[in-house]
Amino acid sequence: MDLVLKSGTVVTATDIYRADIGIHNGFVALIGRDLHGDCILDADGRYVFPGAIDPHTHLELDFMDTVSADDFYTGTVAAACGGTTTIIDYAEQSQGGTLRDALQAWRDKAENKAVVDYGFHVSITDATEEVLAEMQEMVTQGVSSFKCYLAYPERLTDNELLQLLLRSRQIGAVVNVHCENGSLVDFMTDRLLQEGKTEPRWHPRSRPASFEKEATQRAVTLAEIAEAPLYVVHLTCAEALKAAKRARASGRPILVETCPQYLLLDVERYDEPDFGGAKYVVSPPLRERWNQQVLWNGLVGGDIDVIGTDHCPFNLVGQKDIGRDDFTKIPNGMPGVETRVPLLYHEGVNRGRISLNRFVELVATNPARIFGLLPQKGTIAVGSDADLVVWDPDKEMTLSVENLHMNVDYSPYEDVTVRGYPEIVLSRGKVIVRDNHFQGQAGSGRFLRRKPFVA
Ligand code: URP
Ligand code: ZN
Repeated sequence: MDLVLKSGTVVTATDIYRADIGIHNGFVALIGRDLHGDCILDADGRYVFPGAIDPHTHLELDFMDTVSADDFYTGTVAAACGGTTTIIDYAEQSQGGTLRDALQAWRDKAENKAVVDYGFHVSITDATEEVLAEMQEMVTQGVSSFKCYLAYPERLTDNELLQLLLRSRQIGAVVNVHCENGSLVDFMTDRLLQEGKTEPRWHPRSRPASFEKEATQRAVTLAEIAEAPLYVVHLTCAEALKAAKRARASGRPILVETCPQYLLLDVERYDEPDFGGAKYVVSPPLRERWNQQVLWNGLVGGDIDVIGTDHCPFNLVGQKDIGRDDFTKIPNGMPGVETRVPLLYHEGVNRGRISLNRFVELVATNPARIFGLLPQKGTIAVGSDADLVVWDPDKEMTLSVENLHMNVDYSPYEDVTVRGYPEIVLSRGKVIVRDNHFQGQAGSGRFLRRKPFVA
């Protein structure tokens, strides 16, 4: 063995047991007792989790006249420090461009920078016949999920989404969908601006929960017609969850993701003074607090499958402030790739809302299963990549800008102290983080060819 993690409490989506983990050539080679190796890392009294997977990031994304502040180096360093060892980022098709070009452009951005392994979804913004034909090649290249927006200027029509769903079903892919009714958002936004309502607090009023419910219901209906799987990204509210639950109850493969910001932050944040509300301008927006309990119930009861982040950070100074006089110009997005796992552990496990197994399932195993990475990633098993997190359940960390590695000038959780944090993070058997210090190498992350979707 090159390395042995000694006497840790191994946690997977199904099991909890004390064992040594032997690592050889970057893989988990042996799990047992009294293992010997060239190097020993003591994990006694700590948990050993599979490295977490964030299936929803936007690194170095050109969006709303600016570029998201984390590139594939800073974003993946931050991910690793927070216990995430795989990301799946969104490669965006340019209008009139090919999917091939989108994938290549994102592979180029990542190649010499990423410090953890990465895959891509491709967002389709121009669903022509040629593009539908090209989707098959993407699956062959390891991209087995496609995104479409029902909001923003890039949004697809219902007919285009239906075509995408039919095609995805044929080729073993899943469609990820951003559910907000874009034309209603445009209508409401114009009305607010005409009334002189330009501050950040009008952002959530321009895209209420009912617009998300309508779009979720519509996407689910189209998936039912196509008999295709659907993955609803960043679901925020009770009404939208109800639409998804109804279809799931009749056995449809409708998968649901939410994000920590929707579980922990609420609409009152937009009232922070001095343009502070801009920090939370994300789409869909933060909702009224009562929705949070419904989302937690969904996590506990199994109606929500995945916690992602929608990590898309913009600095307050120099980026968010583009929209100081007009909330529609505030770049939409917030940081989260580093804080997702500690927040879910603290708010979920420590507060007794979810079990340790469910925690692992939500941040690692389910994203791996849905997006064709299991068992290489997302679990701890002989033959899996040795992407492992030695987790200190007693370590406290305040999630302030100064303690975090994301390349952004604010933290949405500045005063929040969590208990439970990564002590050591391994990517394919190499220690890349120790005590919140990154010690890996730029470009060590590899592109992941994901398997086709299986319902
Ligand atoms: O506000 C958000 N969510 N920004 C990132 C792009 C998207 O909609 O996922
Ligand atoms: Zn997103």
